[in-house]
Amino acid sequence: MLIREAETDDWPRIWPFWHRIVAAGETYAWDPDTSEEAARALWTGPGKQVYVAEDDTGAIVGSAYVTPNYGGPAARIANAGFMVDPERSGQGIGRALAEHILAVAKADGYRGMVFNAVVETNPAVTLWTSLGFTILATVPAAYEHPRHGLVGLHIMYRAL
Ligand SMILES: CC(C)(COP(=O)(O)OP(=O)(O)OC[C@H]1O[C@@H](n2cnc3c(N)ncnc32)[C@H](O)[C@@H]1OP(=O)(O)O)[C@@H](O)C(=O)NCCC(=O)NCCS
Repeated sequence: MLIREAETDDWPRIWPFWHRIVAAGETYAWDPDTSEEAARALWTGPGKQVYVAEDDTGAIVGSAYVTPNYGGPAARIANAGFMVDPERSGQGIGRALAEHILAVAKADGYRGMVFNAVVETNPAVTLWTSLGFTILATVPAAYEHPRHGLVGLHIMYRAL
């Protein structure tokens, strides 16, 4: 598998799994009905460094972005987002993307990384914890999960 910076014409191959993941309404605090145009702005808009994971056949199976989480004197704290095609989950792609993004962020001079809204029922919490993130706080009953009802949102942090 190859992890590389995204190019402009990669978006049409990110959008199908982006849409499927956000439409499910279980992991991101974005409108499940987000249009393709708005999705593209959210994922690849100004300030976002976007990466894709490509399998041996050239298919794009995951994507991630890294961007400053704050501005000015706090701009060296990063934020990142991760999505793996649900057809390809559980194959180590998410972990590989995350390790890559953490290395890139550190090399780019970020001093830490924050996830602002990790749905507490998301199995990804285990992945982030295994990569050294800790839960700083949980906003209680913040997220209307389609199966679990109101659940909390973790703010997670790791130094780089
Ligand atoms: C989270 C996500 C990026 C993980 O990608 P992935 O390729 O499925 O994950 P991996 O196969 O690399 O698994 C990594 C670890 O995640 C955990 N994990 C991932 N999916 C899991 C699941 N469904 N159940 C239990 N654990 C899971 C495991 O701890 C696993 O540990 P291991 O590496 O020791 O096996 C992917 O599932 C995804 O896109 N989810 C929807 C969007 C999302 O939740 N993004 C993160 C928002 S905070």
